[in-house]
Amino acid sequence: RHVVVLAGGLTHERDVSLRSGSRLTEALRRQGLEVTVRDADATLLPYLAQAKPDAAIIALHGGRGENGAVQGILELAGIPYLGTRSHDCRLSWDKPTAKTLVKRAGFATPDWITLAHNTFRDMGAAALISELVEHLGLPLMLKPHQGGSALGASVVRTAADVPGALVQAFAYGDVVLVEQFVEGVEIAVTVVDGSEGPRALPAVEIVPESGVFDYESRYTAGLTTYYTPARLDPEAAGAAAELAIGAHKALGLQDISRTDAIVDANGVVQFLEVNVSPGLTETSMLPMSVEAAGEDLGGVYSALIEQAIA
Ligand code: DAL
Ligand code: MG
Repeated sequence: RHVVVLAGGLTHERDVSLRSGSRLTEALRRQGLEVTVRDADATLLPYLAQAKPDAAIIALHGGRGENGAVQGILELAGIPYLGTRSHDCRLSWDKPTAKTLVKRAGFATPDWITLAHNTFRDMGAAALISELVEHLGLPLMLKPHQGGSALGASVVRTAADVPGALVQAFAYGDVVLVEQFVEGVEIAVTVVDGSEGPRALPAVEIVPESGVFDYESRYTAGLTTYYTPARLDPEAAGAAAELAIGAHKALGLQDISRTDAIVDANGVVQFLEVNVSPGLTETSMLPMSVEAAGEDLGGVYSALIEQAIA
């Protein structure tokens, strides 16, 4: 089998993607696969047309790696690929849309509103912020409506901190997702498709030393402690798996996904977001859950490749 791993890309998460791509490539080569690593640039389509690989895996993160754009190119080129189809990527990539669909499927998600940049033209910032706090309360989580690796995201504990958080979030796009910040246990649950349908791997519990799982805490070894499986009671662990599988289905996800969630003080698992191209770096959660399941990263992905080709 000749497999192309797409890594890099021109997004804010390029560095993360290069790390994911190299780890995945090593894991697949250990399985005996022939792997070519390619950046996702303008030469991708002609390359695919000429090389005609058996399959492609997207290890790209952020914007065009996860919003359906690269998936669309692979569909155009007729190359089987691992992961969610372009149309469904578009829905999942937009956090408010994903929250709406998962909520409609019957799951909990923190209350939220979206704020477009041009809203500030119609309403002064001070009035807007006081309405925001009145409506959702404090603390709040502000993040770009589309994005990854917590870039542009911040927790706000006082109304005075809102303007700074808005500036951070608007740096990554024109719409900001403002969510109630739910205190609880932060978890990530990987879902893998198999012949018997989607199955959830053990949840990873995330405990950042700083208290906030930001970019630095994610990608600097030692700044976050991970517990796999998460230290949840059986009921909450079951609910977490149910949510991740439910989100996977509700959003039409394929092959592999990771759902991020919070188990609140009442044991309710609250949906935050899904990732169609979860990180595979040394500090990423998906490989931890594969290991905790007693499986091998290369083994899981090569089985999915066979499924994608079949
Ligand atoms: N966006 C990063 C890569 C993740 O979710 O793992
Ligand atoms: Mg994400």
